[in-house]
Amino acid sequence: MGVSLEDLKFHCPRCNKLVLCKVRSITVRKFMEGKIDRDTAIKRLKQNHYRHKHTEYDKSLDNYREQIDLSTKESRAYKFRDDVKARLWLFISAKEELGVCAETLKKADEKLCKLMEFKKKRADLRQIFDEEARKLILYDELATLEVFKDVVGLEEAKRQIVYSFLLPVLFPEKYGGPSPRRAQGGMLIYGPPGTGKTEFLRCLRKLCAQNLGLQCVEIHPTTVQKELIGAGERAVHEAFEEARKKPSIVIIDEADGVLSERMLWEPSYARTTLKQFLDEMDGLRTREEDKIFVVACSNEPWKIAEPAKRPGRLGIHIYAPPPNLEERERLFRLFLKEETSGEIDFKRLAELTKPTKFGYYSGADINAICDEAMKTAFQFERKAVTMVDLEEVIKKFKPSISAELVKMYEKLRGYDKDAKGKGETEPPYII
Ligand SMILES: Nc1ncnc2c1ncn2[C@@H]1O[C@H](COP(=O)(O)OP(=O)(O)OP(=O)(O)O)[C@@H](O)[C@H]1O
Ligand SMILES: [Mg+2]
Repeated sequence: MGVSLEDLKFHCPRCNKLVLCKVRSITVRKFMEGKIDRDTAIKRLKQNHYRHKHTEYDKSLDNYREQIDLSTKESRAYKFRDDVKARLWLFISAKEELGVCAETLKKADEKLCKLMEFKKKRADLRQIFDEEARKLILYDELATLEVFKDVVGLEEAKRQIVYSFLLPVLFPEKYGGPSPRRAQGGMLIYGPPGTGKTEFLRCLRKLCAQNLGLQCVEIHPTTVQKELIGAGERAVHEAFEEARKKPSIVIIDEADGVLSERMLWEPSYARTTLKQFLDEMDGLRTREEDKIFVVACSNEPWKIAEPAKRPGRLGIHIYAPPPNLEERERLFRLFLKEETSGEIDFKRLAELTKPTKFGYYSGADINAICDEAMKTAFQFERKAVTMVDLEEVIKKFKPSISAELVKMYEKLRGYDKDAKGKGETEPPYII
């Protein structure tokens, strides 16, 4: 696929404009030669841009360099980069040229020491710049929700976690306001199978693994449903204990298995699991300093006990609908990435996968369609997937989300499609 410089434009929130990098930069060259991908190239270009344009450079170091007044020889020695080698080399050459003159050697050594000190300082400074640049990039990627670029849709879920938790925790100086903001909350993402709920959690895990001082604590239905009395209760308690140690995201995937309504009236161990969760969430309210955000996902939200869903606990409800036209196009682009022969009509693919009487295509369906088409291409020893491969697969592929199921979710969130009278075939994002 052809690449162009236009692909490397990025938006800088500080300059508040699109930035196009220099053609001569090494990163651009590498990208054009196909040695690095677009994401890596943009990351490096952003880093360079921030480092050079937006971090304060210590000019005194440049002056210092001039003061040292490098002679040609020293410059050459400096080029060795390996300090010990450079030092040795300088001694030897000084000896050869000037004879064994203690005074000269001492001078040379002093200069060299200064040079090395200077090099060290530069390295330290660079590290500081890089750290600063990395922080700016992270801020930028969070504020524009780019950190979640692997998840198509779910914009409301992304916005909620970024603005009510991640930004206040990671950038309190910028985002905290005059008094520190409470960084707590809980949300429940629900929707039919294969709409990217678990994928969203995967992105959150990845974010926590980036060494940002955030941790990710998980509560699995399997640990909670152990037959041992009190096991679930203990698992929930331990998860929150762990989460209180530092800013944490508590993840509960398949939450209907952990916070089931049924558990309220069963006189068994399970009741205490739910009770424990309710208690822990109430405890959060009283401890303002705890930085904990709970993200629960489920495709059977009606099974989750009402008290767990009320404001103050999992109070934000976000529906993850089957992808709409534009999202399906983005999903095809995401899954096919480099694997296509360049003549793919993504708009048409999105059209071909629109809801039918058999139901709605989910993100997971589109993923499976792309995989299947790739298999066909490999089978015929082609490197790239063609439009025909994809069309053939779509023809045979039945959508996995039934229309009845979608109706059920619609009803649950009080959205009456017919009442709107727009003939809208695909549900919008609504909390
Ligand atoms: N919105 C999306 N963005 C990106 N990838 C998606 C999206 N929806 C689905 N996928 C793809 O489909 C696969 C399955 O999706 P995922 O596991 O997130 O579904 P889910 O909503 O958790 O379903 P379930 O309710 O059955 O657990 C993912 O691995 C991902 O590749
Ligand atoms: Mg899931």
